[in-house]
Amino acid sequence: MKDVYEILEELKSSIEGGYPELPLSMYASRELFELEMKKLWPRVWHFLAHESEIPNEGDYVLRYIGPNVSVIVAKGDDGKIRAFLNVCRHRGRAFSKVDRGNASFFRCPYHFWTYSNKGDLVGIPQDETFSNVLDRSKYGLIPVRIENYKGFIFGNLDGKAESLENYLGEFKWYLDLAIRGGDVEVYGNPIRWVVNMSWKAPVDNFGSDSYHIPFTHRSTYSISANPLKLEDVGLQPPEGVKKVPGGFSGYQFASAKGHGGGITSLYDITQENLDKIKELPVPEKIYQIYPPGLLEHLKGKLSEDQLLALKMEMLTLAITRIRVFPNLALIVHSLFSGEERQKYVQDYLLRVWRPVDVDKTEVLTYCLVPKSANEDYKRASYRQCIFMQDASGILDVDDVENWIMQTRMSASVIGNNVKLPMVQRLKEGPVEDFPLPHSKEVQVFREPADKSSLAWWKRYVEILLS
Ligand code: FES
Ligand SMILES: [Fe+2]
Repeated sequence: MKDVYEILEELKSSIEGGYPELPLSMYASRELFELEMKKLWPRVWHFLAHESEIPNEGDYVLRYIGPNVSVIVAKGDDGKIRAFLNVCRHRGRAFSKVDRGNASFFRCPYHFWTYSNKGDLVGIPQDETFSNVLDRSKYGLIPVRIENYKGFIFGNLDGKAESLENYLGEFKWYLDLAIRGGDVEVYGNPIRWVVNMSWKAPVDNFGSDSYHIPFTHRSTYSISANPLKLEDVGLQPPEGVKKVPGGFSGYQFASAKGHGGGITSLYDITQENLDKIKELPVPEKIYQIYPPGLLEHLKGKLSEDQLLALKMEMLTLAITRIRVFPNLALIVHSLFSGEERQKYVQDYLLRVWRPVDVDKTEVLTYCLVPKSANEDYKRASYRQCIFMQDASGILDVDDVENWIMQTRMSASVIGNNVKLPMVQRLKEGPVEDFPLPHSKEVQVFREPADKSSLAWWKRYVEILLS
């Protein structure tokens, strides 16, 4: 039986050899899961919270990095956001089980040691029994390094890791587009559920796999959640923008740092029609789908090029998908929901896939909304997000069955022997005339492709073998 390092080396050499094949066991091998706990989760930047979730002093949320490192993100009485390990310094109990709340103090239920929301140890019952030798200042909560990227708070267990800015690298351009320059907020509480699947199955899909859309989601599209067409709001495609015969088109991004994503549409997006889109006004009716005045509002928050890319998304009703390595994804959809009140409103999803076990994943869904939108729009977009993407959301129901079945096969005895080809568009190089930024670090390819997925696996292998 091959060990985990042999399997990783095999994947590495197949990628380097020019014909990448993924061993099926990569999804749900127990050895790999344990190696991830040692080498992956303690080193990567991990999305913890959005600042709109903790607007007031004393607000906090409980989150995880990897399978079992529990982290509190709290806004202190001084207005500063901090993160701490959810570990009491006395005997190591996780002191909080509460998902979110507002508190000046955290009190551990075991022996009632008490900490301020700034992390200081401020209360020890029967203090005198500690013989005056215990220096309280040494036993505050253990801080987790955080960085705030335009409202998105990421944590890293490695104090020496590169900065978040470096970690994101040139991919920030695409991330900024998806997060609308930071002009978004979380609406409602994140929705959580657990699925019997490896976290890597959905991660591999989100951000990379536009290929599955017309097949896995065919039945859904046939009854309710069709990708919205311009005709649905009484518009024609702009001159020069054609429908793609028989499916989706678009571009896929792959960063050498493991990030990825794509812009996918029923309409063809080319350099030529992008030039035309530049000159076109945005029809009022588009603002049935997007928040009124969005482009104007984002001037100054996004660059000219980013605004053009957003306009392209709007005028071709494209789906924008972004995946930040390892397990964060953002998707902005224009889908027809069939329900009168909200049928044209975009839904905007942030998703974290948290491993709980090798074949168990907690799905965290955050519905995002544009900060600048009015309450009606926010509410409708939230409803759309729930309709599409919560535990019974019509898209997730299609998807999870695939990922559960993949996990089962991966965890079985055949896992090491079955190789999966990662060769969609293998022979096609990056698109050089794509008008959005691309470089050696972030490359752009035609959709559908395995390129973004491959970039993710490459980075994953690098980290696990380092
Ligand atoms: S373990 Fe927390 S007070 Fe003892
Ligand atoms: Fe899907």
